[in-house]
Amino acid sequence: MTERQTNRTVEETADVVILGAGPAGLTLGNLLHAAGIDCVVLERADRAHVQTRARAGFLAANTVRVLDRHGLAAGLHRRGQPHGTCEFRTENGSFRLDYGALGRRELHTVYPQQDLVDDLLTHYLEAGGRIAFGTEAQSVRDAAGPNPTVDVRNAEGRPGRWRARYVAGCDGRHGAARRSLPAGTLRHQRDHGVSWLGLIAEAPPSLDAVGYAMHPDGFAGHMARTADLTRYYLQCERGTPADAWSEDRIWAALDRRMGAADHGPLHHGRIVQRSVIDLESDVIEPLRHGSLLLAGDAASLPAPAAAKGANLAVLEAELLAEALIDELSHGDSRALDRYSERCLQHIWRAQEFAHWMIQLLHSPLLNPTAGPAEESFFHESMRRSRVESLRTSRTHQDWFAENYVGI
Ligand code: APR
Repeated sequence: MTERQTNRTVEETADVVILGAGPAGLTLGNLLHAAGIDCVVLERADRAHVQTRARAGFLAANTVRVLDRHGLAAGLHRRGQPHGTCEFRTENGSFRLDYGALGRRELHTVYPQQDLVDDLLTHYLEAGGRIAFGTEAQSVRDAAGPNPTVDVRNAEGRPGRWRARYVAGCDGRHGAARRSLPAGTLRHQRDHGVSWLGLIAEAPPSLDAVGYAMHPDGFAGHMARTADLTRYYLQCERGTPADAWSEDRIWAALDRRMGAADHGPLHHGRIVQRSVIDLESDVIEPLRHGSLLLAGDAASLPAPAAAKGANLAVLEAELLAEALIDELSHGDSRALDRYSERCLQHIWRAQEFAHWMIQLLHSPLLNPTAGPAEESFFHESMRRSRVESLRTSRTHQDWFAENYVGI
C-alpha cells in the first residue's frame, strides 16, 4: 500500500479495492487478506453503523460451509440456531414442512446478519486487514484497462483516489460500482407488483417455524430473529407510507391473517423497526467489466421472499476471491474469465425460486394483472393448486426444500 501526493488529491494504491463492508465485501476482504493479497475495503458508513445495521438473518447451509472453510463461522456456531420448518397457513387450514428432513436435508441457521457482519469485520481487523470507514466511493474509472481508479470522498468531505489492479463492487444496488458500469450494460429487472410492510417487533417468536400466511386480506409472514425479536411482514398497498399503520392496526391485521383465533395468539410487542419493501428483483449481466467485478446486491437483487441476498453475497465473494487469488498470485485468469457465468447460474436459480415463492404467497385477486378479471381468477386457481400440490406431494416438497435452503 503506497501513498502518492498528486496535486490536491491523496492517491493510494492496493491490488484490490473492495467497495462496501457488507457480507459480500467483508467475506471477500477476509479471504483475499488471508491469501496475502494487498486489499482495502472502502466503506461509506462508520464502524458502529456497519456493526449494528439489522438485516436478514437466515443463513443457507452453503453459507455456513463457506464460512467454516475459511475459519469465519465461530460466532454463528456459538449463537446461531438451526432451523428447518415452515408453516403455511391458508383459509383452508395449515400445514408444516420440515424442510430439514426433505430434499438435500439441509437446515438454515438463524443468525442476525449484524452479528455475522460484526464477526467478519472483527476477524478482518484482527488479521490486520485494511478498511477505511466514512469513505464514500464516487465513481470507478478506467475499469476497461489494467489500472482502474476509484474517486472517493472521506468523512471530512476531502477528495481522494485509489488506484488498483481490480475493483470489487460490493456496495449494493445503489453504490458507485453500479453507477460506473459502461453504457449498455444489461440490467434484467422485474417489479413483482407486491409491497410488504416489514416490521421488527420487540416480542418473542410466536411460532417454532417460519410462518407464511395466505389470507384473502393479503400475505403475512413471521420469522424469528432472536429470542426477543421477531420479524413480521404484512402485504400492503403499493405506496403505503411506513408509518401509515398504527400498532393496533398492525397487530389486528397480523392476528387476522395469521389465523390467531385458530392457531393460537401471537406475542404482541412494541414495533421497533418498520419499512415498506416493494418486491423487485434485478440482475446485472455480465458481472465483470474489465477490472471491475460485482458481487452481492451490486450484482443482483433477489426479492426477499426466500432470504437469498446475504447467501448469494457470501457465495459470490468466495468465487471472486478464488478467481482474484488465481490471477494475482499465479497469473491464471481462467476463473476470473468464468466468474460472471458461474455466479449468474446461482443468481438465476435464486431468482426463479424467489419468483415462484412470490406467486405462491400472493393472491392475484389483490393485485389484478392488467388483463381481464377472468385472468386473475385463472391465476388464483393455479396458485391454490400450487399450494395444494406443496401440501400433498412429497416430490414437490423435496423440490421446495432443495431450493428454499439451497443456493
Ligand atoms: N462507497 C462505499 N461504501 C458504500 C457505497 C459507496 N458509494 N454505497 C454503499 N456502500 C456500502 C453500504 O454502506 C454497505 O455497508 O456498501 C455496503 C453494502 O452492503 P449490503 O447492502 O449488505 O450488500 P451486500 O454485502 O451485497 O449484502 C447483500 O446482505 O444486506 C443484506 O440481505 C441484504 O441482500 C442483502 C445482502
